Amino acid sequence: MEVIIQPTYEELAEVAAEIVRDALLKKPNLVLGLATGSTPIGLYEALVRMHRTDGLDFSNVTTFNLDEYVGIPPNHPYSYHTFMETHLFNALNIPAENRYIPQSTTVGHEEFCEWYEAAIVDAGGIDIQVLGIGKDGHIGFNEPSSSLGSRTRIKTLTQSTLEANAPHFGSTVDAVPKMAITMGVGTIMDAKQCLLLASGESKAVAIANAVEGAITAEVPASVLQMHPQTIVIIDEAAASQLKRVDYYKQVYANKQELLSQDH
Ligand code: F6R
Repeated sequence: MEVIIQPTYEELAEVAAEIVRDALLKKPNLVLGLATGSTPIGLYEALVRMHRTDGLDFSNVTTFNLDEYVGIPPNHPYSYHTFMETHLFNALNIPAENRYIPQSTTVGHEEFCEWYEAAIVDAGGIDIQVLGIGKDGHIGFNEPSSSLGSRTRIKTLTQSTLEANAPHFGSTVDAVPKMAITMGVGTIMDAKQCLLLASGESKAVAIANAVEGAITAEVPASVLQMHPQTIVIIDEAAASQLKRVDYYKQVYANKQELLSQDH
């Protein structure tokens, strides 16, 4: 696991955007796995800026979102469909037919989940999966105790996740959908590269458990320690509970030095 610690949220978003941009320049038909929530917004803003000012082209990109609530329509103001439209799709030239988000209102969820997994495989697999992390260590909506081999399916949200998402539903926990369709932990692990982003002190314990704790279904993000290409990009506050901060910074500094010698 590579851990990149940046002073601020803006800088971590910029580092993540540069990784996506460089991958896209190498592979114009990049397959991106996307997350919602507050954490990736800065990354999405940076990608929109790169599209507008540098002409970064997304016309051959395919995207798969991690998750969507069950029981609210795609046009609900707080659906993840609406979130993606607002924060990314409105501003980029990704063809509509290349954007996949779990459909929360389909009947026959099981068939849908199988179809979603197959669509990822048909697209050639996910090249870069963007991830946030819950305070309880969840990725996607894979709550603690999720099977580390799980595939796309319906999950019941924990009380902690319901409370974290309540501000989007008029601050009423009761208004938050209780279930979601989410890629599984196994689905996420199949991505060629994962970018795990986190900002702020409220994520510090989850990041410490995920990066330096035991690999356990109690902290689903900890399984990323087994992923050969995961980069954890965090700000100082989210890094504040890590034991090896100095080492991670040294590794990053050395890598930057090697890269600058290459150019
Ligand atoms: C959202 C998702 C979730 C969030 C996580 C952190 O698609 O998959 O796992 O990444 O709940 O949310 P924020 O970024 O709002 O703190």
